[in-house]
Amino acid sequence: MKRIYLETYGCQMNEADSELIAGVLEAAGLEIVERPEDADVLLLNTCAVRAHAEQRVLGRITELGRFKARRPELLVGVTGCMAHHLRGRLLDHAHTLDFVVGPDGYRDLPALLERAAHEPVAVVRPDRDETYGDLEPRRAPGVRAWVTVQRGCDKFCSYCVVPYTRGRSRSLPLADVLREVRRSVADGCREVILLGQTVNSWHDGDHDFADLLRAARDVAGLLRLRYISPHPTHVDERLIEVMAEGGPLCPQLHLPLQSASDRILEAMGRGCTLAQYGDVIARLRAAVPALALSTDIIVGFPGETAEDFQQTADFLRTTRFDSAFLFKYSARPDTRAFGLEETVPEVEKSRRLALLIGLQHAISGAMNDAWIGREVEALVEGPARRNPAQLYGRTAQFKAVVFPADGTPAGTLRRLRVTGATTMTLVAAPV
Ligand code: 5AD
Ligand code: SF4
Repeated sequence: MKRIYLETYGCQMNEADSELIAGVLEAAGLEIVERPEDADVLLLNTCAVRAHAEQRVLGRITELGRFKARRPELLVGVTGCMAHHLRGRLLDHAHTLDFVVGPDGYRDLPALLERAAHEPVAVVRPDRDETYGDLEPRRAPGVRAWVTVQRGCDKFCSYCVVPYTRGRSRSLPLADVLREVRRSVADGCREVILLGQTVNSWHDGDHDFADLLRAARDVAGLLRLRYISPHPTHVDERLIEVMAEGGPLCPQLHLPLQSASDRILEAMGRGCTLAQYGDVIARLRAAVPALALSTDIIVGFPGETAEDFQQTADFLRTTRFDSAFLFKYSARPDTRAFGLEETVPEVEKSRRLALLIGLQHAISGAMNDAWIGREVEALVEGPARRNPAQLYGRTAQFKAVVFPADGTPAGTLRRLRVTGATTMTLVAAPV
């Protein structure tokens, strides 16, 4: 009996893949354990999106090497987006790393682990047909389930490593997605978040993403439905219409922008101008008045001038996103932008990032303050982490909310009146 310790880095897609990996391993009779000390196999499911993420994993591999020094029979391996890059370094890390398996190799993991006990194993080739649609992930119990509907990406934004690490875009069949949504609800989940790199480009035969949302929304017992991450070029009238219908489909959207300079958007290969992005947001906000919006921004892309940056800051100021994930550009091998000369020095990147963080902090605070006095409905998740006398949940807008514990069970909706707010959390009282 092999015991596996699994650690996850990176985005929700990777978290969902870890649940898939756990499902595959358990189906083969292996056991997932909570502590590396108890394991025969240490597995890091990794992210390659920025150099910083990779550095953390490399540090961790060195650390885990110490376990291996004491127990040479221990297997250490890497799955996920770094597999692609680490493949060539398998030999450098030979004293520590026993296997490297990319995002399309998880189906065979039990057999690969057997093999890794005898020889180094590297499986990183993308597989255009692999969706894992027939496999059952092992989900952590809770109110929320992440359901993968699409793997890989076809956009090839010039900064992004994902199409190289995860391969080309594939949609899971409608029937597989619905089966997973139903299974999650049967297991006690009340909220489902559909996942894909450009999730709203999902399609299956004649069915488009709006069809998928309607079908998933109507699954009995599902209280809330969300999706991440849509691409602005695939937000069409049909999608806006289904968003406007509401119901379990929540008034909340994470719509990555990256930069508000058309010159930079062009160099990033986003396929979307600022005017087009602004138009999408205006139409969404007109159709879904309670819509909460968030975005991703990269500062310091090669060629970003002070003026380009100013345009981004101005756009954040005027558009007023509820929140924004703000990143410094990180050059990634293999990507088209990797060859571009970096024109923004590290200190200037940091300065630009700090400016946007300050700006967005103030906006997020003001956006949350605007909820004070209003009624919201929270999907209760359980006791608040910091204060067990409070319950914690999320509003339809995906805002965290805490309120005095009143026995409302996890997984039910509770009407609340907002009495206070911080940039991160709403404070409320039952009504
Ligand atoms: N450097 C910095 N940020 C990046 N992202 C993707 N690639 C890079 C990179 N090379 C950001 C984008 C994306 C989010 C998931 O990560 O903003 O939307
Ligand atoms: Fe997720 Fe991209 Fe990181 Fe892969 S590289 S884990 S897809 S953020």
